[in-house]
Amino acid sequence: MEKVKIIFVGLGGRGYGLLKDVCQMEDVEIVALCDLLPDRVERALKLVQEQKGNTPVTSADYKELFATVKADAVITPSAWQAHAPICIDAMKAGMYAATEVGGATSIEQCWELVRTSRETGMPCMMLENCCYGEFEMAVFNLVRKGFFGELVHAEGGYRHDLRAEVALGHERHHYRLDNYKRRNGDVYPTHALGPIAKTLDINRGNRMVSLVSIASKARGVNRWILDNRGEEFENAREPFALGDVVTTIITCANGETITLTHDTTLPRPYSRNYVIQGTKGIASEDANFSISIEGLTPQNDSWDPNEWRPMKEYYETHGHPLWKAYRSAGVKSGHGGMDYLVLRAFIEAVRDKTDTPIDVYDTAAWMAITPLSEDSVACGGKPVAIPDFTEGRWLTPRPVVRGKYCLDEVCEEAFEGITEL
Ligand SMILES: NC(=O)c1ccc[n+]([C@@H]2O[C@H](COP(=O)([O-])OP(=O)(O)OC[C@H]3O[C@@H](n4cnc5c(N)ncnc54)[C@H](O)[C@@H]3O)[C@@H](O)[C@H]2O)c1
Repeated sequence: MEKVKIIFVGLGGRGYGLLKDVCQMEDVEIVALCDLLPDRVERALKLVQEQKGNTPVTSADYKELFATVKADAVITPSAWQAHAPICIDAMKAGMYAATEVGGATSIEQCWELVRTSRETGMPCMMLENCCYGEFEMAVFNLVRKGFFGELVHAEGGYRHDLRAEVALGHERHHYRLDNYKRRNGDVYPTHALGPIAKTLDINRGNRMVSLVSIASKARGVNRWILDNRGEEFENAREPFALGDVVTTIITCANGETITLTHDTTLPRPYSRNYVIQGTKGIASEDANFSISIEGLTPQNDSWDPNEWRPMKEYYETHGHPLWKAYRSAGVKSGHGGMDYLVLRAFIEAVRDKTDTPIDVYDTAAWMAITPLSEDSVACGGKPVAIPDFTEGRWLTPRPVVRGKYCLDEVCEEAFEGITEL
């Protein structure tokens, strides 16, 4: 069996976790490892040697590796500002590129991703694992079966208490601190936007047209530092640019609205508050992962709009076939199993030499929300136009790569006789 040869760039907490997952895959060979920090490279090297039995080439300079190591693909769980340049250089070196999630630093960078992919013919995929979440995929399946009627509105966000991670960023070598000090906008929009965009057919018959973003004041990290580290700790009283809660409203060409919330510096439970709403019903993560859909969720023979039904009651009958197959094959670890799915989606596209289920247009459009929302916040919530990175291709049907990991359609035929993923 020809193995898919991969270079990893970025071996922090996330990179090491993904590397562990990939080391379990028999059809993958890790040929090179890169990080700016030597101890992270060493730790990853040891893992690959133990798990895979080979010794990858290592370097702190990814360009050197791209020029000298023969590989099929690059996976980069590096810092947000490094993702686009690394993916662009990977494609120029003739490799598939996969970036971890995170916003872009400029719109030009997003255009360059698209142009490079078109010029080189190399796909670029954002590894947005939440597109493969069980709840999100079940909602997608119900939407495609028509249960929601016509879609009207969606919501989602990244709501996660990261005060310690931000405040201790320098001692942990974490990229978030510098971003939070200097940028004000939705710096992490894609966990919710990814599955919403796929559900609303963004870039395939629909597109995001404009947005407005408003930021609250920033108090959470300063308060955390004062309470937990004291007056003398760095940034105890220096202001942070990033508002504690940033709210963005996107309008789409087909008339839907999307509300995104970035909320990571106040005490709160984790939530991506995923909501999909149509003319026949609603799904909501914050209602305990539930749905209320006319016709599908009747109570005592009649549908009551005040009643939620847990989505898990419907997984057997209406769950996405990928998750049904995954459950019977055995769900793997990593954010409830979705990390494995997004990695397999990428690796199988590389193996089969097809486009990726999240393509370069999706990647560019989703990453672009960050600099656009910064512009809008800076102008007091002014509407900002969202570029059409497809340059009109969204208007006419584009071929979909059908298969198990497809995120544009539900490909039932791909699961016939499937016993393992
Ligand atoms: N999808 C998810 O669920 C999920 C979860 C956690 C993190 N992430 C994403 O993964 C990425 C990494 O997160 P993390 O928490 O591991 O961050 P981290 O800061 O701990 O690790 C990033 C690593 O990348 C390295 N790096 C940065 N620029 C580089 C360059 N130019 N060349 C080589 N190495 C470089 C850094 O030295 C660091 O070791 C981020 O984009 C984050 O948003 C995604």
